[in-house]
Amino acid sequence: MRDPNPAAAHGADRLAAAGIAVAQGLLEDEARELNIGFVSRMTRGRPWVRMKIAATLDGRSALADGRSQWITGEAARADGHRWRARACAVLTGIGTVKADDPQLNVRGVDTPRQPLRVIVDSRLETPPAARILEGGNLLLFCAADDAARRRALEAKGAEVVVLANASGKVDLPPMLEALAKRGVNELHVEGGFKLNGSLVREGCVDEFLFYLNPSLLGDTAQGMVNLPAPAALDARTRLRLHAVERIGEDLRVIARR
Ligand SMILES: NC(=O)c1ccc[n+]([C@@H]2O[C@H](COP(=O)([O-])OP(=O)(O)OC[C@H]3O[C@@H](n4cnc5c(N)ncnc54)[C@H](OP(=O)(O)O)[C@@H]3O)[C@@H](O)[C@H]2O)c1
Repeated sequence: MRDPNPAAAHGADRLAAAGIAVAQGLLEDEARELNIGFVSRMTRGRPWVRMKIAATLDGRSALADGRSQWITGEAARADGHRWRARACAVLTGIGTVKADDPQLNVRGVDTPRQPLRVIVDSRLETPPAARILEGGNLLLFCAADDAARRRALEAKGAEVVVLANASGKVDLPPMLEALAKRGVNELHVEGGFKLNGSLVREGCVDEFLFYLNPSLLGDTAQGMVNLPAPAALDARTRLRLHAVERIGEDLRVIARR
């Protein structure tokens, strides 16, 4: 395929001009798939956004009180770390930071670098003792600056960016553009019900990585994505199956918009 990077777009032409036979479009779909994040950043100015959700077969991602560890088995969780490892950045919401105190780093996978960790946190409520702050390499998007909280987080090595929308929350589409400007090709989302809902509603998600455990939690438990009720069945958010595989005791479903 042609390199979508404008800085490299003339490479093939220069080879051809030098008398070297150049063929393009061979295995183009495979090449595009391999470089999906890079192509997205170059052509759309935003990363390829992959939303990971672990849920029961009835689509529940946490108990009503917020507990969600662990819904899926060890093999699925290890697989999730491999997907984290290939991403340039891993994103979550303040709700998840408060409920789970996650580290959001890559563990159990041989990786040359840890992805950047990103938190969507409107009011800078991330506790300075949160485990996610360990080791730096952390970016916080907030909607309102607070000098004292910012200083406490910066002292822990975090970088803070203020990006508000009209409702006083973090403005998500420009956040994606800001991440692309920092070179993020693939963004791996591991947020809760609310952030997932906003990202889907605002058209920010390209792919879902569902891990489905053969169990049921019932209607009192939290769902996967906070979406408004569609006006009609036809107005539901439709996805296309991309790959379905059994991972240990769980099912992994990759679906795209
Ligand atoms: N099963 C899974 O795969 C999985 C993965 C991760 C988390 N979880 C579970 O999810 C639960 C947490 O879910 P949650 O919904 O409370 O938390 P969340 O989605 O991680 O974070 C939501 C918070 O982000 C802030 N926010 C800022 N800008 C936003 C925007 N534009 N749109 C939406 N939110 C924005 C909001 O806080 P403000 O109101 O302060 O602005 C909102 O309350 C936990 O129980 C956790 O265990 C499950």
